[in-house]
Amino acid sequence: MPVPILDTKRQYSDYQEEVEREIIEVARSGWYIGGPKLASFEENVGKYCESKFAIGVSSGTDALLAALMALDIKAGDEVITTTFSFFATIGVIARVGATPVLCDIDIETFNIDPAQIEAKITEKTKAIIPVHLYGQCADMDEIMKIAKKHNLYVIEDGAQAIGSKRFGTVCGNFGDFGCFSFYPTKNLGAMGEGGLVTTNNEELAHKMGLIRNHGMEPKYYHKFIGGNFRLDAMQAAVLDVKLKYLDKWTEGRQKNAALYRKLFAEKNLIGKIALPVEKEGRHIYNQFTLLCEKRDELFKFMQENKIGCDMYYPLSFHEQECFQYLGCNKEEFPVANKATQECLSIPIFPELTEEEIVEVVETIAKFYS
Ligand SMILES: Cc1ncc(COP(=O)(O)O)c(C=O)c1O
Repeated sequence: MPVPILDTKRQYSDYQEEVEREIIEVARSGWYIGGPKLASFEENVGKYCESKFAIGVSSGTDALLAALMALDIKAGDEVITTTFSFFATIGVIARVGATPVLCDIDIETFNIDPAQIEAKITEKTKAIIPVHLYGQCADMDEIMKIAKKHNLYVIEDGAQAIGSKRFGTVCGNFGDFGCFSFYPTKNLGAMGEGGLVTTNNEELAHKMGLIRNHGMEPKYYHKFIGGNFRLDAMQAAVLDVKLKYLDKWTEGRQKNAALYRKLFAEKNLIGKIALPVEKEGRHIYNQFTLLCEKRDELFKFMQENKIGCDMYYPLSFHEQECFQYLGCNKEEFPVANKATQECLSIPIFPELTEEEIVEVVETIAKFYS
């Protein structure tokens, strides 16, 4: 039985009527940018994220870029981040002219290893960008201690982790800004592109509101250099409808993760594969990522058997061609190197059936038998 890695169509019936009504309403209203749909979504998603301010933006990438711009991070500055994430995390640092400084990860969570950070701080360091990879919050207690001690900004890349929690705090509220993506593969996905910036700082919220619209206030007077980072009304309306179902969908992912854990243990596969470690708090399982012996052969076997899976990510930032100018030494990142060689993400989306999950596990068991 083929199992897709993701099937966004399966959840459409949950919200079809409501969303189609909203789309027609926006189409007929003639109000396509800003307006009441954006205001409503920002209010609701702000509450969901437990943040005082929520500013809709055009994508997760633009959320990160706008955050760096709002904090005036520029050429000559250094920004510390993980070497193991989606490219956007590092791309934005280089795009504002700053220098990315990379840290290795913790093998249990795939998140930045806080123990690596302090040694990388110089007088040029301005900010840390931890990523809450696969839906689990990074070790923000440790990261915030370091940031406070050295007076550094913190921009949380929560693109994969909306609503995740650690140490009693919802992600996006530890640092200066939380940045989120509504790319369709995310737990809360738009019907197109979208993103969000959260903050609890009124001054930064105001500035972010301007930065997303070319730094303009009042009309045609530009205080800052920003960009067109706006979230359109149609996407805001769609997201506002889908937000109501987010907890249900996330619970579906958590249930699937629990079933995988049970089945992999029953099949005695632990050892051939390592399961992601769930820390205290709330993991929202945007991905369920294994470390696997003979990963490349397993990946091929899964493809031959039509089981959706993927490598997030086959290369770390220090290995990317465009970042060779950083002059990183590969040996400095043994954990990320292991992750890129062994990681394999398997289907976890909420509408997976139990039979499909069994099929995924049995296919992996067959490979190692
Ligand atoms: C960790 C991480 N950061 C940033 C982004 C960028 O988000 P977007 O694709 O909405 O620009 C993504 C999305 O894929 C991501 O996974």
